[in-house]
Amino acid sequence: MRMRRKHNLDERLEQVSDLIIERTIADLNMKTSVAKKDYIDFKQVFGNANAVELEIGCGKGKYITDLAQRHPDVNYIAIEMLSNVIVEACERAKKAGLKNVRFMILRAECLQSYFPSHSVARIHINFPTPLPQKGYEKQRLTNAKFLNIYKDVLASGGEIYHKTDNMNMFEYSICQLSQNGFALKNVTLDLHNSGFEDNIMTEHEVKYSEMDMPIYRLEAYLPENN
Ligand SMILES: C[S@@+](CC[C@H](N)C(=O)[O-])C[C@H]1O[C@@H](n2cnc3c(N)ncnc32)[C@H](O)[C@@H]1O
Repeated sequence: MRMRRKHNLDERLEQVSDLIIERTIADLNMKTSVAKKDYIDFKQVFGNANAVELEIGCGKGKYITDLAQRHPDVNYIAIEMLSNVIVEACERAKKAGLKNVRFMILRAECLQSYFPSHSVARIHINFPTPLPQKGYEKQRLTNAKFLNIYKDVLASGGEIYHKTDNMNMFEYSICQLSQNGFALKNVTLDLHNSGFEDNIMTEHEVKYSEMDMPIYRLEAYLPENN
């Protein structure tokens, strides 16, 4: 189902524009624009040289806001392809008065236009749309096409943190990560009963855990000499 453009979206985006990193080259033609570069100057954006972490598909921003509050010494950039969804994330972060988080209305396909190689310490991918239908595999955020992009933007020793409620998606992610040079650690098939203490719930996670569904989680990293 297509989402309706929210009432007053442009005005709302304007009110949070200080939290949005504006870039437009990728909007024109995704296939040709990915070759173009307009790298973000992280030091200029955040006013410091702290490590940068990235969330892909941040939705309404509960996770990134809570994470940024918990780690004021880390800079966070959250991307989301839907402007009528990310606007809520921006409003949430603004209300929390956060200085260490920014947002981009962007498709993950275009990350390399804006993020220099090896510039990101960690990538968070939470509850990506599983897209089980035939023909949609390449749009899954843990498909090899995306993993190659993440490999490029991740710094040496960089990691991916990934959660989902969907067992098939989790299996798919494990296969894709393993086949594309990532090693796995801290894999759990039932996060909320695993004793993991640092968890921050996303909007989807709240919804699915209220239905008593298990949450799957893993950490992936590139072994040295990969
Ligand atoms: C199921 S929602 C999960 C939202 C949030 N992470 C959570 O856990 O509550 C998946 C989100 O990923 C976004 N998304 C899907 N594909 C994307 C892509 N290629 N680039 C950026 N965002 C994407 C969707 O618009 C959607 O908001």
